[in-house]
Amino acid sequence: MRQKIVAGNWKMNKTLDDALALASELIGMVNDEVRGDVRIILCTPFPYLVPVARLVGNHAMISVGAQNCSEHEWGAYTGETSAPMLASLNTSHVILGHSERRQYFGENGKLLAAKVDAALKHGLTPIFCCGEPLEVRDRGEHEDLVRSQVEEGVFHLDADALKKLVIAYEPVWAIGTGKTASAQQAQDMHAVIRQQIATRYGQATADEISILYGGSVNAGNAKELFAGNDVDGGLVGGASLKSREFTEIVKSIL
Ligand code: PGA
Repeated sequence: MRQKIVAGNWKMNKTLDDALALASELIGMVNDEVRGDVRIILCTPFPYLVPVARLVGNHAMISVGAQNCSEHEWGAYTGETSAPMLASLNTSHVILGHSERRQYFGENGKLLAAKVDAALKHGLTPIFCCGEPLEVRDRGEHEDLVRSQVEEGVFHLDADALKKLVIAYEPVWAIGTGKTASAQQAQDMHAVIRQQIATRYGQATADEISILYGGSVNAGNAKELFAGNDVDGGLVGGASLKSREFTEIVKSIL
């Protein structure tokens, strides 16, 4: 059975007090209401990783993740945060290749492959993001683009390393726009990614990798989106900033 995962991407939001309030509300709701096998990952801004992890403690279902890391381990890289630093904070996951990083910070496949390596080397689980802009989908080239993002970012890994990854398909036109992919569009692309992995690494490896959907997931559409055979959960932005709504999304995967 593939791990079901709902990850919240808090992006650059919340003061420390608000972040702690959100985390404690969430932990309370999960304790009271969530029964079943799901991994919940709170991807907070860097400064909140430690205080949020303290609140989470050794929770059976909840872990804490970062939203990015450097491809370098140590040294003179002012303003950067590295994988070994995150590992030393007990951060378990790190989002890599989010479309906002690709778009606003010029992150490309080669850089992301190096970041994936750095994360894995230090025991972090990368949540590797891929997804096409609208004009690419309109040209009918979305499958090709996503395949090339996956190939460039992670296909240098061997099967054992690849199995440690989580992949998130996030169509750029659906992120923060309120416009979601249809459940069929999500399932279709997830199947394409899984097939691509099966072709390269074998079906058994492909069957072990959780593939999440992201892009305007909310409490109203999560159940339908998560129903696809190849959809193993979600990467949730805006709706992860509201404890009640995020909890409802988590419950939709069970
Ligand atoms: P959204 O963001 O849910 O606000 O669309 C998703 C993401 O960027 O991970």
